[in-house]
Amino acid sequence: MKNHGAFNSESRIARETLLQPERETTAYLTIKELSKTYRSLFNHRQEEHLEILDKISLTVKKGEFVTIFGPNGCGKTTFLKIIAGLEGYQRGRIEVDGKPPDRIKIGYIFQNYRDSLFPWRTNLSNLTIPLELEGMGKREKYKRAREFLKKLALNISEDSYPYQLSGGQQQLLSIIRALIYEPDVLLMDEPFSSLDFQTTLFMHDKLLDIWRKTGTTIIFVSHDINEAIYLADRVVLFSKRPARIIAVMETNLPRPRSIEIRETGKFFTLRNRILDLFKEEITDNLIFSREISTHIQKGIL
Ligand SMILES: Nc1ncnc2c1ncn2[C@@H]1O[C@H](COP(=O)(O)OP(=O)(O)OP(=O)(O)O)[C@@H](O)[C@H]1O
Ligand SMILES: [Mg+2]
Repeated sequence: MKNHGAFNSESRIARETLLQPERETTAYLTIKELSKTYRSLFNHRQEEHLEILDKISLTVKKGEFVTIFGPNGCGKTTFLKIIAGLEGYQRGRIEVDGKPPDRIKIGYIFQNYRDSLFPWRTNLSNLTIPLELEGMGKREKYKRAREFLKKLALNISEDSYPYQLSGGQQQLLSIIRALIYEPDVLLMDEPFSSLDFQTTLFMHDKLLDIWRKTGTTIIFVSHDINEAIYLADRVVLFSKRPARIIAVMETNLPRPRSIEIRETGKFFTLRNRILDLFKEEITDNLIFSREISTHIQKGIL
């Protein structure tokens, strides 16, 4: 369904200008030509090769907030898992601060965050888990966890249990648990996708506040374009599987941010440019149903 020639050539020009060379000098996390294929047995017999990532190259600065936006099933989670060392890869190179990623501290927030909290432990003792794993003593770990809660001004009761918290509070707890051992890089996989609209807006501002106070380098996968732009210094657009990088866009929006920024012309322009590229990508061989189109207009996919 390629009936938009002018649109296509315009987008191609946009792609070329958007894919500018990375500034190597400021690189903290460097990913070079990363390729990944899953090999699995089809019907327990025939080996099937599924190409997931195709020569992904990206550099991220220390303390930068990068979001990744791309079609369903294109390989975003696989990309994060590879950086975290939870998945292998066939070709390419990953370095953080000149070291292999297994030599640095990585925090990971899974989409199903509720499953990652321990229901039999209080909120405070959920927070101390990473400190225990680092061998920190009992007194010190509780002191550190209390100080951390205070520093971030979070209204989470220390002595109650995760099931007594709202969804948003549970997610906050899992985010600060990932941050408490001061990871060099925090990877977040659609962490707010199961929260309601109002809680998600609250979480965006809370996360930006925590990020400002901790200076952590964050890579955040999102299926909501408004979220991807609002949070980011740069938005990275993935193609459909096997994922390539279609565009990397600086948001250049002032910080601290507030919800009004989503109504500005600059925000709209950026959103429309990304959605044009995205539409072109997914309409290449998809029947462009009305339902998908509506989702895109809302920026949710
Ligand atoms: N362990 C695995 N073995 C084989 N194939 C896998 C495995 N994990 C994921 N896949 C496949 O790899 C592709 C990419 O999956 P991935 O979860 O990375 O996509 P995604 O972009 O995060 O998708 P979504 O937007 O739905 O979260 C999918 O086709 C998926 O079925
Ligand atoms: Mg995913």
